[in-house]
Amino acid sequence: MYTPAPWLPRPKDLAMKTVLVLNGPNLNLLGLREPAVYGTQTLADVQALCEAACKTHQFALDFRQSNHEGVLIDAIQEAGRAQAAGALAGVVLNAGAYTHTSLALHDAIKGAGVTLVELHISNVHAREAFRHHSFVSPVAKGVMAGFGIKGYPLAIAALAGMATDA
Ligand code: DQA
Repeated sequence: MYTPAPWLPRPKDLAMKTVLVLNGPNLNLLGLREPAVYGTQTLADVQALCEAACKTHQFALDFRQSNHEGVLIDAIQEAGRAQAAGALAGVVLNAGAYTHTSLALHDAIKGAGVTLVELHISNVHAREAFRHHSFVSPVAKGVMAGFGIKGYPLAIAALAGMATDA
């Protein structure tokens, strides 16, 4: 029987891990919605930035958007299973307004045990008081806010850094 030399990388190590970039409610309206706050670029532009960043860091990209809390929760649970199986590096989550309201998202992230970067295009702390509380932050590995859509590739770089540290 052929046994590969132990110092050679195993196929499992060579397999590309995925990053899930998950966008919540109203982010499908990027470019049209409050451009003074969120800019004029669209969600397709965000996806293109994420694709480039994933290519740089040798990740596969799974890019999604939903206006529905339950769909986001299903995606987080799925991500937890994928991470446990070694197929996922982590999640970048822009939960939109659910950030400030969703205990269910908090519980899903905690329960899934997934490595997650919370992301906001705007600096939520420089805005209305009701945006200062996040149900996501206590269960996130880190938070990226206020860098516009350039925050997405920064968050992917952060996940790549964590994968290297591990
Ligand atoms: C947001 C900030 C949230 O407060 C808001 O509800 C959004 C977008 C951001 O990306 O800056 O929908 O998450």
